[in-house]
Amino acid sequence: MDRYIVKGGNALVGEVDISGAKNAALGILAAAVMADETVLIDNLPDVRDINVLIDAIAEIGASVERIDRHSVKINGSTINSTCADNEYIKRIRASYYLIGALLGKFKKAEVTLPGGCNIGSRPIDQHIKGFKALGADVKIEYGMIKTEAADLHGSHIYLDVVSVGATINVMLAATLANGNTVIENAAKEPHIVDVANMLNSMGANIRGAGTDIIKIKGVEKLHGCEYSVIPDQIEAGTFMFAAAVTRGDILVRNVIPKHLEAITSKLYDIGCSVEEYDDAVRVISNGKLVSTQVKTLPYPGFPTDMQPQIGVALALAEGTSTIVESIFENRFKYVDELMCMGANVRVEGNIAVIEGVEKYTGAQVNALDLRAGAALVIAGLAAEGFTIIDDIHFIQRGYEGFEQKLRKLGAVIEMVDSDKEIQKFKLKVG
Ligand code: EPZ
Repeated sequence: MDRYIVKGGNALVGEVDISGAKNAALGILAAAVMADETVLIDNLPDVRDINVLIDAIAEIGASVERIDRHSVKINGSTINSTCADNEYIKRIRASYYLIGALLGKFKKAEVTLPGGCNIGSRPIDQHIKGFKALGADVKIEYGMIKTEAADLHGSHIYLDVVSVGATINVMLAATLANGNTVIENAAKEPHIVDVANMLNSMGANIRGAGTDIIKIKGVEKLHGCEYSVIPDQIEAGTFMFAAAVTRGDILVRNVIPKHLEAITSKLYDIGCSVEEYDDAVRVISNGKLVSTQVKTLPYPGFPTDMQPQIGVALALAEGTSTIVESIFENRFKYVDELMCMGANVRVEGNIAVIEGVEKYTGAQVNALDLRAGAALVIAGLAAEGFTIIDDIHFIQRGYEGFEQKLRKLGAVIEMVDSDKEIQKFKLKVG
């Protein structure tokens, strides 16, 4: 079983290039199957969730040609099945985007119920509400979601909760429905805009993505296009907080600074300086870290996907901080691991009260989920001594070459798969 071993204590300094956004790319890959012409997608992150979805797309019969690690050509004209249920697809959340895409194109889809990180209850009632409003029957049986429609028609849909997944899924299906659809209370994340832009480059007619009302005029069919995925705001934010926590100085390149505003603003609050360039941000952390209050919210609020990373910084910040997690109820699991490293945190329901401590000390911890795992690596980089992070397959779902990128910044980290390798690493780095 792969693990990371980290020797903490080095300030991370240098430049890092951010990969394409995983959560945008997942929607974009699903959208690609809706055309009967070739779609070329570029700037894909080479991470596990993306590769699983590409395999699932090939399995339903689409022609898939990998150009290189970051680009793929997909042609949906050869699809011969509307059923996606391979054993891997159930492990990723975004399998559900194939429902919207296949339902839109073939008026029928059967997909295994989605998996993904265990960060709390993750209902899909809003996706189902949207599909039903478009005229589809939806059944859940034998672990599958089965949808079918004689005809998909435009509709007015109010989402009861702001949901990234439901917004993208309904947008996908409504693109090929007859007539006009309005999605109210839509999510506004950059990846929603990216998926809408991609669909529009394929001939869709979607307006308003990025606001809470999205208007879609159904079109008869979609055509091929070439599209490059936006940079990953959460990967960028993770490196920005790695600079903060290790008292480093990192130029985070290939980003859209506007997408990082909530993250940048919290870095200012805790005492870091942030310089913004056209497509880069530099985070410098050379003073002491100070406490702040955080509440996770849908975009443009502070992202839940950055909550563990800011938690790791606040546990080293002078004073008392609070974090209110308002999106997923089970996203404080990393706190127990962090306490093994010396943090002083009390969790009550969806609120964490954090008393800053002077330093972390290395321990053996568990990644638990994607963002928790990345946050614990950062904690290890700031800690005194050695930290071992188990279950890094979670991290590999969403961070491309995490340890290589960190090493380039001066981190002492290695992926190991045995106790012998851990001993070797310890002897090597002293
Ligand atoms: C997406 O998950 C991301 N995943 C998550 O990324 C991210 O944490 C989340 O959005 C919030 O930003 C992908 O894009 C693949 P939601 P999603 O629907 O779409 C409730 C990461 O680390 N809800 O926006 O599943 C839900 O319980 C991850 O990369 C309903 O009640 O999230 C939650 O409280 C993990 N009914 C809130 O809405 C529904 O039908 C937001 O969930 C759908 C959601």
